[in-house]
Amino acid sequence: AATTRYEAESSPAICTGTIDSDWAGYSGAGFCNGANATSGYAQFTVNAPAAGTATLSVRFANGTTTARPASLVVNGTTVQTPSFEGTGAWTTWATKTLTVPVNAGSNTIRLNPTTSAGLPNIDYLDV
Ligand code: GCU
Repeated sequence: AATTRYEAESSPAICTGTIDSDWAGYSGAGFCNGANATSGYAQFTVNAPAAGTATLSVRFANGTTTARPASLVVNGTTVQTPSFEGTGAWTTWATKTLTVPVNAGSNTIRLNPTTSAGLPNIDYLDV
């Protein structure tokens, strides 16, 4: 099926931090720079044509040398805990592919950081 892009800076996505555009290479109008705290999340509302599994591609940048883990929460349930490794620079964007269960229709997909470093910068979710 065709891929839909959900930009982190575009409603109904939620970024508990700031929408920034100071590091080049992002898609759309900017990216989510979540607060450097476990409260700094990025949330997406994703439509699925049918119940089953969906493949998510998360585009991110982590200009530090320390991976930033997060809970991947789908419709309120943590389904896995991906870790977003350092990408070498804040301008170097990488994509992490994750497979998750989804309901037919609207799904809430949130990345909740599990350390006080917070999330990497999050550009978009492709589904
Ligand atoms: C720097 C960088 C931000 C990034 C932040 C972080 O401040 O400019 O884009 O989000 O580090 O460590 O998360």
